[in-house]
Amino acid sequence: MPKATITLDPDRTAGKIDRRIFNGFLEHLGRAVYEGIYDPGNPLSDGHGFRRDVLEVMRPMRMPYVRYPGGNFVSNYDWKDGIGPADQRPVRADFAWQTSEPNTFGTDEFMDWCEAAGTAPMMAVNLGTGTAKSAAELVEYCNHSSGTYWSDLRRSNGHADPHDVKIWCLGNEMDGPWQAGHVPAAEYALRAEQAGKLMKGVDPTIETIIAGSSGNHMPEYMEWDRTALEYTWDHVDYISAHRYSRNDQDDTPWFLAEGVEIDRIIQDYRSLLGYVRAVKKSSKQVYLSFDEWNVWYKVRGTQHQKGNWVEAPHLIEEVYNLEDALVVAQYLNSFIRNTDVVKIACLAQIVNVIAPVLTNKDGVLIQSIYHPFVRYSELASGDSLTPVVTGPMYLAGDRGEVAALDVSTSYDGSNGQVTVFAVNRDSENSITTTLNVIGRTVFAAGDGWLLTGDDPNAHNDWDAPERLTPATCDVSVEDGVARVVMPPMSIVTVTLETR
Ligand code: AHR
Repeated sequence: MPKATITLDPDRTAGKIDRRIFNGFLEHLGRAVYEGIYDPGNPLSDGHGFRRDVLEVMRPMRMPYVRYPGGNFVSNYDWKDGIGPADQRPVRADFAWQTSEPNTFGTDEFMDWCEAAGTAPMMAVNLGTGTAKSAAELVEYCNHSSGTYWSDLRRSNGHADPHDVKIWCLGNEMDGPWQAGHVPAAEYALRAEQAGKLMKGVDPTIETIIAGSSGNHMPEYMEWDRTALEYTWDHVDYISAHRYSRNDQDDTPWFLAEGVEIDRIIQDYRSLLGYVRAVKKSSKQVYLSFDEWNVWYKVRGTQHQKGNWVEAPHLIEEVYNLEDALVVAQYLNSFIRNTDVVKIACLAQIVNVIAPVLTNKDGVLIQSIYHPFVRYSELASGDSLTPVVTGPMYLAGDRGEVAALDVSTSYDGSNGQVTVFAVNRDSENSITTTLNVIGRTVFAAGDGWLLTGDDPNAHNDWDAPERLTPATCDVSVEDGVARVVMPPMSIVTVTLETR
């Protein structure tokens, strides 16, 4: 059986893991809000109309923040339509998804939902058809305590305390021709600068994110980002990256090397951020917010993305399989390894729409990608140690020879506990993996956590909801090191006690 070694050095760290890499994303799209998290009248819902069963499966995801309300939706959304008495709110035609938007769920309902879910809001403002003034008014509505028009309106709408929204996205995918109000980079930079300044004028404690390229396939990738960053550098905190991974050719070995591309995108941003910082001779640091990421390719095209002007249509309800879960784990590995740059990341999305959880009127279905997200979110905290991995390569189609193991780690210096997160991308070979920590002795290990299977396309469905569920695996400890066998196409996490 092929062998690998993962060597960790507590002195070799990429920095503290920022828990905000476990954020989620909720958009007014398809059945994400209506019939997803919000389903008044359903016996499974609470007094607010929030689905209790959805809240229950969201909590273990431990998402520090959830981004809202879009996505493409936000670029023609007027947040003022979604406040006040629900029966007086207008029904609007949503430009992005050709859906009828009842506006019965809006800013205040989202804040209440965040509280119920144990998460915090991360808001996006409309810089497509919206104005800087309207964006700043939303900050006033949310964050100003009282005594002004918008803050008092919030209070009269039943929220005496400010919502205290800390993170704000300045528009969404403004480089995309599909985006309402899409403009050239220089024009977007002006909009973002003006809006961001007004917003921070209202509440100087907020952090802002400018919209970077919507993917590395875009013709202006990095040029758009450079233009926007150079103009706004002194006034923003993050730039966004988005990626949706695809396996259009049904080529599992190729797809399972997706982590190589994710690393590359982050490296592109690391280089750009360093470049702009250097030409600006700036002492300030701007970081990366990877605020939309997931697998999404099986349900694309008009029939999945256009709602025929009905309310809560079934749009982009991707079914996730084993190989998708392995790709999701690689995103998380990459965010953890690159913690010096990636401070925020949002799984897109959380319910029904390209999501780890699906609903019908009777309950929830957990999809494959839910499992690594929950496991990583539970265990990844402390320092990200930079792993040195020696081991077999495998042939990943036209991506060439790629290391079979994709690894990240977290380390708690206060108690010597090390957690190793590893994906075996090889679909044929098990790998016996030795784990050792320089200068320390591994003296105990809990059971390993394992998600694997023989069929990369295996998935959960309503008839077989537990086809893909995590299991445990043996971890042996001997002579101060640990050993675990990683089956082909597997995700393994192992927690080691060291001294
Ligand atoms: O998450 C679905 C869509 O993907 C979002 O609305 C948009 O930002 C991206 O293109």
